[in-house]
Amino acid sequence: MDLKGSVALVTGAATGLGRSLCEELLKRGACVSICDLDSDAGENACDELGKKFGKEKVLFCHCDVTDYVQFDEAFQTTLAEFDNIDIVINNAEIMNDKFWELEVDVNLNGTIRGTLLALQFLGKDKGGKGGCIINIGSAASIKPQISTPIYTATKHAILGLSKSCGDNYHFKHTGVKVIAACVGPLDTGATAPSNRFKSPIHEKAWQFDMKGFVPQKTELASKGIVSLIKEANSGTIWTVTNNSAPKEIPYSAGSI
Ligand SMILES: NC(=O)c1ccc[n+]([C@@H]2O[C@H](COP(=O)([O-])OP(=O)(O)OC[C@H]3O[C@@H](n4cnc5c(N)ncnc54)[C@H](O)[C@@H]3O)[C@@H](O)[C@H]2O)c1
Repeated sequence: MDLKGSVALVTGAATGLGRSLCEELLKRGACVSICDLDSDAGENACDELGKKFGKEKVLFCHCDVTDYVQFDEAFQTTLAEFDNIDIVINNAEIMNDKFWELEVDVNLNGTIRGTLLALQFLGKDKGGKGGCIINIGSAASIKPQISTPIYTATKHAILGLSKSCGDNYHFKHTGVKVIAACVGPLDTGATAPSNRFKSPIHEKAWQFDMKGFVPQKTELASKGIVSLIKEANSGTIWTVTNNSAPKEIPYSAGSI
């Protein structure tokens, strides 16, 4: 897919990795819809990126990914503004096992809502032009993060969702690639405040979980993730860690 002239909707894009992904997409000539719960940070990101890349290329949509109606409205608004949507990146998250039900609703259910809406808006079988969905996982998608078991569960599940929705069986009908990017610790968020753990005894486990990881530059991780839009096949799973180029990881073979 040619990124120049394409349109991307990115959730959780007001800050952190989401914002950096938007910047990378804009650098490559795409238009972006910044979807986030945090309106102040979202409007601010929209202003700053608009000044840098052109106001007409950036849109902010207030959107809580736990609310299907709001999420659907964000798709409608993006479509009305840019006439098309080619790329959806499900990136919004919270990491806080103390509020585990919300964590599941944002990280997993939010990604499921975003995937289903993207298939509905982009799917060739629904009158769309096809495109690409990237679901953002974590190092905790492929190995247990013992300090945050519920966060780990949400990130593991994202792989199952992406692998099955991205299977060639579906891709043949939808023309929408579904890819998962498992991102290792970033320079913006490699420390975890203790109030994120379900129990104080989990806090010590965080040191163990983080052993061996070099916090990577968010900008480099974004470059790697955006490169997957063009280069990765549907249903594939990639790690993006330690400032290295994305590496495909085997997950399960075969297709029906
Ligand atoms: N930071 C890291 O070290 C790291 C490591 C591995 C994976 N990741 C992955 O990268 C992605 C982004 O992480 P980050 O560190 O940039 O996070 P962040 O906390 O900086 O940003 C998350 C964004 O999501 C938004 N958000 C939260 N709840 C929302 C909701 N209900 N609806 C819409 N938006 C909502 C927040 O307002 C925020 O702007 C996540 O999927 C995360 O799992 C990050």
